[in-house]
Amino acid sequence: MFRTAIKRMAAYEPGEQPRPGRRLIKLNTNENPYPPSPGVRKVLAGAANLLRLYPPPRADELIDQAARVYRLPREMIMAGNGSDELLAMLFRAALGPHHKVAYPLPTYSLYDTLAKIQEAVVVGVPWHHEFILPLDELVRARAQLTIICNPNSPSGTLTPLAEISALAKRLGRGLIVVDEAYVDFADSSALELLRDHPNLIVLRSFSKSFSLAGMRLGLGFAHREVIDQLLKVKDSYNLSRLAIAVGAQALRDLDWMRRNVDRVKSTRERVTGELRLIGFEVPPSQANFVMARKPGRDLAPIAAALRKRGILVRHFPTPALKDAMRITIGTPAEMKALITALRLLMAAALAKTTRRGAAQVR
Ligand SMILES: Cc1ncc(COP(=O)(O)O)c(C=O)c1O
Repeated sequence: MFRTAIKRMAAYEPGEQPRPGRRLIKLNTNENPYPPSPGVRKVLAGAANLLRLYPPPRADELIDQAARVYRLPREMIMAGNGSDELLAMLFRAALGPHHKVAYPLPTYSLYDTLAKIQEAVVVGVPWHHEFILPLDELVRARAQLTIICNPNSPSGTLTPLAEISALAKRLGRGLIVVDEAYVDFADSSALELLRDHPNLIVLRSFSKSFSLAGMRLGLGFAHREVIDQLLKVKDSYNLSRLAIAVGAQALRDLDWMRRNVDRVKSTRERVTGELRLIGFEVPPSQANFVMARKPGRDLAPIAAALRKRGILVRHFPTPALKDAMRITIGTPAEMKALITALRLLMAAALAKTTRRGAAQVR
């Protein structure tokens, strides 16, 4: 009934989304702790009138506003039902069975799922020490599609633009995607490289910086020839009229987004310092989350103990990531609760190890 590749693969596992009404501190899926702009709330209040007719297939109001904000012609922009949908379109358009897709690991695990659906071959190249881009290895992979998540999830680290530009150049006709879901929290964006690289595609999300994860909105930027091919695999009405109106309004209210981003960034810097004081390794993050690591130690029990205390963080049970937790930056009060709980849990874990050591000596 179904293709063997689909039957064999496991489904992508998103982070836990609690039922409404549960009082949890939710630091597991990198949402924004602050609300969308007042302008967006006004659009939503009048939303019912929008819904009788099908939406414009090219999401014109949103694309026009994006063209103004990002100073690019509208032919170089497309909109997606979340940047996940844009990723799915890219995989669908660029990759068939046995084609290659390359990316540094660890990274956003949806890429693996999308590759399996296409029956494409993943060339996963480990990051060099401290999340440095493995440039030569990625070039040598000679993949149809190369993806750099920047800032990367779950590390939060940023690859410098000069390296992305060098990679794009050396890949020649191979497509390179820079997944910038978190870029508004970072210091640089690959959008400025677009002019010089016809093989480059930049993806953005409204889910993180714009506080609109529930609306499902993303943007893709590339040369017209690339956008034209991607539009062929797009559902005709992929964005609802509501999403188009909300996205356009969010782009008119940029100052609101920037203010919230600044709050998250300043909390991020403080939390990074506090986690390091507790003894975690924390790579410098340019996203709205941090990765807290205890090399060699499985942090699943710590994540589970936090859950019991009503705090959700993300733990990935893979060999490369089981000694880490990805923690979304919430409000200062939420982060204070997290740090207090972590201090207690880590002290208790240390005392247990010390007692065990002493018993062995005896
Ligand atoms: C690296 C990365 N890319 C893309 C996405 C998907 O974003 P969206 O909500 O726009 O589909 C996420 C979501 O967590 C992400 O972490």
